[in-house]
Amino acid sequence: MNEVNILVSGATGRTGGAAIDTLLGMGKRVRAFVRSDDERAAALRKRGVEIAVGNFADLDEISAAMQGIRSAYFLHPIAPGIIGAAAYFAQAAKEAGVTAIVNMSQISARRDSKSHAAQDHWISERVFDWSGVATTHLRPTFFAEWLVYPHFAKEIWASRKIQFPFGNGRHAPIAADDQGRVIAHILANPAGHEGKIYTLHGPVEMNHTEIAAEMSKVLGAKIEYAPTSIDDFNQKMEKLYRFHPFLAQHLVEVSRNYQDGIFAGTNDVVERITGTPALSVRAFLEKHREAFV
Ligand SMILES: NC(=O)c1ccc[n+]([C@@H]2O[C@H](COP(=O)([O-])OP(=O)(O)OC[C@H]3O[C@@H](n4cnc5c(N)ncnc54)[C@H](OP(=O)(O)O)[C@@H]3O)[C@@H](O)[C@H]2O)c1
Repeated sequence: MNEVNILVSGATGRTGGAAIDTLLGMGKRVRAFVRSDDERAAALRKRGVEIAVGNFADLDEISAAMQGIRSAYFLHPIAPGIIGAAAYFAQAAKEAGVTAIVNMSQISARRDSKSHAAQDHWISERVFDWSGVATTHLRPTFFAEWLVYPHFAKEIWASRKIQFPFGNGRHAPIAADDQGRVIAHILANPAGHEGKIYTLHGPVEMNHTEIAAEMSKVLGAKIEYAPTSIDDFNQKMEKLYRFHPFLAQHLVEVSRNYQDGIFAGTNDVVERITGTPALSVRAFLEKHREAFV
């Protein structure tokens, strides 16, 4: 059997998990970098995935996971520590002779981002570039998952309102599954993707009135978009994420960016790289209808 030469971090998360699904479907052998050897790791093992237990805060654990690897996916959650983790990941990759990294960043990653998380993503991209290990940076717009994250889905269904501070801004929501397919294809065949920055979008740019209309059709109930102010959203996020102020600060700042058009746009990157178009909002909601009951 072939040696395992693809490493996926964030393997218990949305995009990492979806990347593993696609890689296994392609017949590739995969090693998952997971924080704990729990039942989720056991489920991956059952599917033939090799498990490397470790934390982004530990260079030696990352190094051990990199042995024999050619392509690696770097996924750090929105949390402090991403710059150090990127530096560890890049150094460990370089030492192990890894030739391709796929780095999850975001569309709002800019030198002058007011969101600390988005600015840290931008610096992390530069760290990978300085490392000299060929890296592909992915900069998705807002995930379609925003519409079904348990807290938001529950609130939308209970109030029949989407209450986001996005004004009349637009974006083309992109599903984590589609991103997972992009990640898998680049990891499996990195040639031509070295040094590229890909913004990732769903197929259709919409405002939240249009998204609410699609949601109404799928759920068979009238859902309205009721835009809130940034100040109200700030108060709500400070309360909801009182133990995670880094995330709250990020969500408020990117809401301003959203109103300013930073998340807008669409392209065919998903289809070009994977051969299959990205899911529409309607198709995504049909797949995740159970989030609203
Ligand atoms: N949501 C959006 O709209 C959006 C838009 C653009 C970009 N992004 C970017 O997408 C990323 C989030 O992607 P996602 O939704 O796929 O992530 P996710 O589902 O939140 O998964 C996070 C993963 O990271 C793992 N993890 C957390 N801390 C770790 C550590 N210290 N060491 C090792 N692993 C660790 C988690 O493990 P456990 O399961 O053990 O916790 C989990 O597997 C972020 O970088 C964000 O900036 C998000």
